[in-house]
This record gives sequence, C-alpha cells and structure tokens, in this order.
Amino acid sequence: MIKKFQQLLKEQKSNTGTYEQRKKQVMKGSIPEHVAIIMDGNGRWAQKRAMPRIMGHHEGMKVVRKITRAANELNVKVLTLYAFSTENWKRPKMEVEFLMKLPEEFLSTFLPELIEENVQVRVMGNKERLPAHTLNAVNNAIERTKENTGLILNFALNYGSRDELVYAVNKLMEEADPNKAVTEADIQKHLMSGDLKDPDLLIRTSGEIRLSNFMLWQLAYAEFWFTDVLWPDFRGEHFLSALEDYQNRGRRFGGVKDVDKK
Ligand code: IPE
Ligand code: IPE
Ligand code: MG
Repeated sequence: MIKKFQQLLKEQKSNTGTYEQRKKQVMKGSIPEHVAIIMDGNGRWAQKRAMPRIMGHHEGMKVVRKITRAANELNVKVLTLYAFSTENWKRPKMEVEFLMKLPEEFLSTFLPELIEENVQVRVMGNKERLPAHTLNAVNNAIERTKENTGLILNFALNYGSRDELVYAVNKLMEEADPNKAVTEADIQKHLMSGDLKDPDLLIRTSGEIRLSNFMLWQLAYAEFWFTDVLWPDFRGEHFLSALEDYQNRGRRFGGVKDVDKK
C-alpha cells in the first residue's frame, strides 16, 4: 500500500516536472496571442459514465478554470471559449436551462480568483435571448473585471457566426453612405469580437472536425488543432501540445515566408 502511494507520488512529481519543462520550452517560442476553443464532448463524457449529460457540462466548467489558468500562465492574451451556440437552443429544455445557469455557478465560484489573477471577462453573442439571471451574472463579471489588464477571457454565449454577420450587415446598412464602399475594416468593426485580434489558434475537442458556426470570419487564417479528448478530460498538458504543434506550423498568410517565427 505504502509502496503504491510512493509510486503514485513519484509519478505525479515527474508529470509536473515534465509539464513545467515543456511549459518553459514553449514559452521560449511564439505564443498565440488569441486562442479560441470549441469545448465539445461534455455529453459523451457523461454518457460514457452512465450519467446525465448535464453532469458533463458541470465537469466541463471545472476545466474552464484549469485552462484559463494555464493560458494566463503561458502569456496568452485572449482566450475565447465557445460556451453556447445559437443552435444549442434546439437541445432539451432541461439541458438548456442547466447551461444557462452555468455562468452564474462558474462566476460565483471563480470570479474572486479571476479578479485576483487580473483576468478581464468579456462575452460575445446575442444577449437578447439570454435569461435575465444569466445576463445579470455575466454583466456583473464584465463590470467587475473591466479594468483588469491580464488575460481576456471571452465567452461566446448564444453566439453564432451567421447571426453575427447578419447583425454586422444590418449595422452597415444603417450607416450606408452611397459614395463609400464597405471595407473589410468596416465589417470587422461590427463583429461581436470587437477590437480583439483574430484567433491565431483554434482548438476543438471531442474528435469533431467542424466549426459549428464559430467565428467564420475571424478564423480565416487561424491554425486548427483537433483532438479526440473530450472537454471534461482536457488538461494543461493537452493545451501545451496544441501550442507545441502551433509553434511547428509555418504561417505564411499567402506569402512565402513564415511570419510568426521569432
Ligand atoms: C459541448 O458539449 C458543450 C455545449 C455544446 C454546450 P456537448 O454537450 O456538445 O457534448 P457532446 O458533443 O454531446 O458529447
Ligand atoms: C459547438 O458544439 C457549440 C459549443 C461547443 C458551444 P455542438 O456540440 O453544439 O456542435 P455540433 O452540433 O456537434 O456541430
Ligand atoms: Mg457537441
């Protein structure tokens, strides 16, 4: 028994050692300024354990905390997390209600820690359909962290890229000037991601290889990284693997030379 415990301790030590070593190495290279994550696989994680899907969402919430901390430590500037899509309303009422309560639960537990870590919370998405309790919780977090200058933690909540583009087009039509053509910058200005730089790296968990209506405009030149790991099982080690792969990509943006290697 004691031997087993000692063995476990040793393994844990060498694992953290490895993580720290890898982290140090990664931090010598180019860190993506903006990482976007499609956090997928909560339902399957729960189903594999014969638990209701909502248990997977609850477990996934804890991973948000872990990855926020990892991203902050790695000097990522913006972390955008896809939390609820405009299509997710199609899910059973009980699941939707649970998901709409998660921001409150997450923030009531972790907001002090986010404030302590100088994280700035933002939300992008269509706020009109969100229940008042959800909106109050996120608005409170936005307000209380707005002066923070560290990592921007941007939740995509009731977000859909097509919805975002329709909103932008309508805004442009309101401003329409017959003598002036619309530019890329005009479109960019009206996107829900606002002044945030486009994501450099997109991660999607759970083995699905699609965008599911996520940041179609902004991901035009992002590097994509997919993993079979389900979101509740996703850890800092996986995040590091994504960053390591990112550092081995040649980003050319249509040119001939890597522009992202330092
Ligand atoms: C992602 O997990 C969370 C949300 C979409 C809100 P899923 O709930 O989509 O999990 P799977 O894909 O059914 O396993
Ligand atoms: C995308 O996951 C939305 C979020 C992670 C919030 P889904 O599970 O809803 O995507 P599809 O339905 O598999 O494309
Ligand atoms: Mg899914």
